[in-house]
Amino acid sequence: MKLWGGRFGKDTDALVDDFNSSIRFDARMYRQDILGSIAHSAMLGRCGVISQADANLIGKTLKQILQDIDDGKIEFKVDAEDIHMNIETILIERIGDVGKRLHTGRSRNDQVALDIRMYLRDETDSISDMLQDTMRTVLDLADQHSGAIMPGYTHLQKAQPVTFGHHMMAYFEMLKRDLERLFDCRKRMNVMPLGAGALAGTTYPLDRESVARELGFDSVTHNSMDSVSDRDFIIELISCLSILMMHLSRFCEELILWSSNEFSFVEMDDSYSTGSSIMPQKKNPDVAELIRGKTGRVYGSLMTILTVMKSLPLAYNKDMQEDKEAVFDSVDTVKLCLPVFTNMIRTVTVREDNMLAGAKGGFTNATDVADYLVKKGVPFRESHAIVGKMVAMAIERNQALDDFTMEDFHACSPLIEPDIYEAISMQACVDGRKLTGGTAPACVRREIEAGYKYLKQVK
Ligand code: ARG
Repeated sequence: MKLWGGRFGKDTDALVDDFNSSIRFDARMYRQDILGSIAHSAMLGRCGVISQADANLIGKTLKQILQDIDDGKIEFKVDAEDIHMNIETILIERIGDVGKRLHTGRSRNDQVALDIRMYLRDETDSISDMLQDTMRTVLDLADQHSGAIMPGYTHLQKAQPVTFGHHMMAYFEMLKRDLERLFDCRKRMNVMPLGAGALAGTTYPLDRESVARELGFDSVTHNSMDSVSDRDFIIELISCLSILMMHLSRFCEELILWSSNEFSFVEMDDSYSTGSSIMPQKKNPDVAELIRGKTGRVYGSLMTILTVMKSLPLAYNKDMQEDKEAVFDSVDTVKLCLPVFTNMIRTVTVREDNMLAGAKGGFTNATDVADYLVKKGVPFRESHAIVGKMVAMAIERNQALDDFTMEDFHACSPLIEPDIYEAISMQACVDGRKLTGGTAPACVRREIEAGYKYLKQVK
């Protein structure tokens, strides 16, 4: 008979058992479920709701069950529905009537809310750790090539020269926000819901605060109906993970572009590339592509949980069981991608010469020619027009602006003097952009140092 079978005249249909059951995917929360139950039963004993002896026996047996699961000695049952009732059933099999006292003052509704918070709290911590490794590797890459000049793009058209270090540090900023978002999300996750019961609270004199302390929560929830029906923290976590994956995907997209023959700015390591079964010359950036592709899975999970929660009346509804596969898959995907991504960028070869050559084409110093004229007193709009004409002339002659003779320059503006050549060199273009946040190597070095410092003090 089911643990809840008292009022039923018939067994559930086998199809329904199968349909209703979540053990296939919630079994992974067994540790959290058992630790929660150990804390709950100890508290029941302390508060005199059950006897101290019963509490001790329950606690001791739960620890043995945990050990047995860890050792692979236990097989869960589909007809015991979910991880909560599987564990409780095993407990009762082992210690009979005493085991039946565990669920006093508790419902699976607050129990599952507890388990998933504990589970995701741990996963959030391990993702944060992995992300810090990634950030450190991005810093190393920026550090190794801080002053290397490359073309910066807007609309994927060459725009102005930037440094590779600067480009890398843009990703560092993104990942730093991702990390802070995870920390922030964890705070709202780390609130203890037990004591909410099915939805209305409980009549037993439970000590919620002590359970919270024991299980490492910062505080207890303050509305029992919200406690059992809130899945905001799951939506928040998958949102954080979606944004993180979006950043990895953008980075991957650039690596894919840059490793193409047309760019040749980087070369992926052989150990992070794959070949073609037909074209012998091929070296494909599969790893970067797969990370880009897997971003879609995480976005999909975000849509799943948002849609599941939309329009659900208070309080618990079974629909909410659908939260787990979505969030577990997101967590698994991110944990799969982060270390691969980190090693992929750790082993990439950067072709500084090709990047510099790329920066020299495409008139990336046109803005600097215009700025040169502004410094000579020409209003910016006017100098913009003058340089526009110079660019048209250069295109016609298949030249760069640096190739103009002094006569060419003078024909465009009599204010231009020989110091123009130095003023519009690639180096001057990047060196000049030295306000906070600019691409000048000196600024980038400062940001890299600050980045290393940040990682040292962050938890
Ligand atoms: N397996 C359920 C879930 O994942 C646990 C809570 C079920 N509660 C209930 N009254 N059916 O949400």
